[in-house]
Amino acid sequence: MADWNQVERHFDQADAAMLRGENHLSADLRYAAYILQVCSPKSGAEILDVGCGDGVVCRAIKQLRPDLSISGVDISSVLIEKAQAAGEGIAYQVANVVEQEFFLSARFDLIFSFSFARYLDADELTKLNRTLLSKLHLGGKVCHLSIPDRRKWLLYCVCNQLNQGRSQARAWAMGVAITLAKLRDPKMSDGISRWHRAARLLAALPPDVRARINRPSDSWYRFDLIAESSESTHE
Ligand SMILES: C[S@@+](CC[C@H](N)C(=O)[O-])C[C@H]1O[C@@H](n2cnc3c(N)ncnc32)[C@H](O)[C@@H]1O
Repeated sequence: MADWNQVERHFDQADAAMLRGENHLSADLRYAAYILQVCSPKSGAEILDVGCGDGVVCRAIKQLRPDLSISGVDISSVLIEKAQAAGEGIAYQVANVVEQEFFLSARFDLIFSFSFARYLDADELTKLNRTLLSKLHLGGKVCHLSIPDRRKWLLYCVCNQLNQGRSQARAWAMGVAITLAKLRDPKMSDGISRWHRAARLLAALPPDVRARINRPSDSWYRFDLIAESSESTHE
């Protein structure tokens, strides 16, 4: 089980650039456009961003689609305060979505997360998916976007090293060293898989949910999980 206090402290201290790697408006709008393209919410839809951080993606979505009614939830009170300070008619709540209630009686047409599912282990994701599916209007969708592919971890590390200007030989040596360290880290072992496998993600859903894995053409190291509600997942 995750140490949620540690997760909260980690993100309380995170600056916005660390949350997404890139932190300028064009990147925010690009992420928002990507989310809208994958999730295709209908006009006037009620949508929820799970693990919304400082709300920058919520605001970019609002800018692109003012017709949508947007809410966000995050474990970090510091980030939610920042999100609330930026306003823009978006409703926010602080909650650990795996353990606590949030937006109690509200129902949504779309619940998405962006760069978030990686922080949960398989059991936590299964539990959360059940909660999220129960919060959908009939016909609604849960989409977890940008989930790193665990099998590509080594290549991902090597690419990061190359991007930092290391030589090929040094990048591979560093990549292997980081991968071995991660394999020894109990948090990265099979029980708590921050870097997911497609089959594991599909297994984290009730069996009668229609789900698919989206492999974005612009990425070789991540994928998205898209699940649709059915009569039985709908409370
Ligand atoms: C990498 S950040 C992404 C933030 C945001 N989606 C974005 O793209 O700007 C991951 C976020 O997940 C949140 N988070 C992690 N575990 C959580 C949990 N159990 N409940 C709610 N939020 C959580 C963190 O506080 C952090 O804001």
